Amino acid sequence: MIELKNLSYRYGENHALKDINLTVNKGEKIVILGVNGSGKSTLLKVINGLIFPEKGEYLYKGRKITKKAFRDRDFAKSFRKEVVLLFQNPDNMLFNPTVYDEIAFGLRQLGIEDKDRIKIWAGRLKIDHLLDRSPFELSGGEKQKVCLASLLVLEPEVLLLDEPTANLDPASTDWLIEFLSELDKTIITTTHNLFIAGELGKRSVVLGENHKIIYDGDMEDFLSDRDLLKKANLIYKHFFAYYQKGEEYGR
Ligand SMILES: Nc1ncnc2c1ncn2[C@@H]1O[C@H](COP(=O)(O)OP(=O)(O)OP(=O)(O)O)[C@@H](O)[C@H]1O
Ligand SMILES: [Mg+2]
Repeated sequence: MIELKNLSYRYGENHALKDINLTVNKGEKIVILGVNGSGKSTLLKVINGLIFPEKGEYLYKGRKITKKAFRDRDFAKSFRKEVVLLFQNPDNMLFNPTVYDEIAFGLRQLGIEDKDRIKIWAGRLKIDHLLDRSPFELSGGEKQKVCLASLLVLEPEVLLLDEPTANLDPASTDWLIEFLSELDKTIITTTHNLFIAGELGKRSVVLGENHKIIYDGDMEDFLSDRDLLKKANLIYKHFFAYYQKGEEYGR
């Protein structure tokens, strides 16, 4: 469904992604790991067709995703509905006067006005009590849920989630993990949180500080490999102690 071939991306002189080869099949749940600045957000932006590779190519359902491809209005419309990105910072996504309008916005762009659908998704994300509020006055976690509702209401095929649990408390994090595991969609999630990474997907893709993929495979194998964690610079001094304790407590 998603194919990245020898793909590189630079901001000016600086590489953010180098020689990325990645294939994602329909229905897969993948977790992208990597230290700050390794290129996780950039990778999601490429897959979302917001920025385009400097080298290599990106194919979505066999079609090459380039700036030119988006000049085809029908393609642009269907791609924007099918592949959606939850930004790392929810403030970058919110601009409507009310939560209701925020969720309705994407649908309106597609020419759809569907109150019931908006209410259903607000209910599923447990934000129905916020529909009349201004999105700017909400807490970080509430904002993240509003952003997620505004994407899910489009009923996309591919969900790209950039640090979706960053603003969530433990109860909301638990809820989101379960919610996502029940969603029958292709989901690519980035996270810093190794303690929940394994619950967000079975396959992990790890970006190194060199902006290349240094691991692509089973999540559990990665989390139990001290050398690989060190290579990715993702090891916490207390990670193993905590991880083992977690297992003792059945986490
Ligand atoms: N708009 C931009 N202009 C210039 N450089 C950028 C821009 N966005 C990101 N970068 C640089 O590209 C590299 C990758 O950034 P990116 O945001 O993709 O990393 P990340 O893995 O998502 O980091 P974090 O964990 O902090 O969210 C970093 O070196 C960053 O400084
Ligand atoms: Mg990021």
